[in-house]
Amino acid sequence: MADESLARPFYTVFVLAFVCSALVAGAAVGLRPLQEDNRDLDRKRHVLRAAGLYDAARPIGELFALVDTRLVDLASGEFVAEGTLSPDSYRQLEAARSDDGGRLLGADEDLARIRRLEKYSLVYLVKEGDRVGQYILPVRGKGLWSTMYAYVAIDGDLATIRGVSFYEHGETPGLGGEIVNPLWQKGWQGKKVYDQAGAVGLSFAKGKAAAEEPAKSFQIDGLSGATITTKGVESLMEFWFGEHGFKPFFARRRAEGHQGAAPPTSAADGGPSHG
Ligand SMILES: Cc1cc2nc3c(=O)[nH]c(=O)nc-3n(C[C@H](O)[C@H](O)[C@H](O)COP(=O)(O)O)c2cc1C
Repeated sequence: MADESLARPFYTVFVLAFVCSALVAGAAVGLRPLQEDNRDLDRKRHVLRAAGLYDAARPIGELFALVDTRLVDLASGEFVAEGTLSPDSYRQLEAARSDDGGRLLGADEDLARIRRLEKYSLVYLVKEGDRVGQYILPVRGKGLWSTMYAYVAIDGDLATIRGVSFYEHGETPGLGGEIVNPLWQKGWQGKKVYDQAGAVGLSFAKGKAAAEEPAKSFQIDGLSGATITTKGVESLMEFWFGEHGFKPFFARRRAEGHQGAAPPTSAADGGPSHG
């Protein structure tokens, strides 16, 4: 009897621990699809925000029907062939980390300080009639404390910024964290990415952007008290709109005469199927 009562507390603790861990594990596994769905909705919301199409009063799914999600081979600038990969299930950051989906960047290449670059990138096309009105591109790069993630919307002319939406970062609120300030992001609209020579001409002022042309078209306000974050944003733009980023894609679109025109259907150009 005495033995039995001595074992009972241990037995109770063991059973309780087992039940609790089963509950926690069950909740984590059971909630994963919900978390994935929420993450997906959030991603879509920011793509729409960058494109200036977000409307809080309307369902995201309905708004996103205007958006065509595709995969692009960054090195060649071509759409990824059908059947190779589905944009819906493609995890870009995981791909960058994997041996076959990404590669280590050399120190001289890694302007954005992302260490590894994926082979394929998602791109979001917004059709306006039978032309591509905008291209929304995922970009990322290191600020002072963290890697900053954003979507940049480029006009169908493949040169003019329509909007930006930073959606994840670990910069200091009120300093580098101002990258999420809608007022600052508004200052990106209408700015030109490439200069006459085709190089990335976009830059960030220390303080207020130039008010006179030609500098006005290429300059965005710097964030006060956050020069390092601002420099990180400038570098990530230079990287993603340069040779290792989307420049080959833009060059191919132009060469094929698709500047502003809608891309061929997936079946016609061998592009992937998308939802
Ligand atoms: C607590 C703390 C947080 C800071 N956070 C940031 C930041 O998020 N981004 C940034 O660029 N600078 C940040 N700074 C300031 C930098 O250390 C550096 O002084 C600043 O980038 C210089 O910018 P300024 O020339 O515009 O003053 C922070 C400084 C302190 C003390």
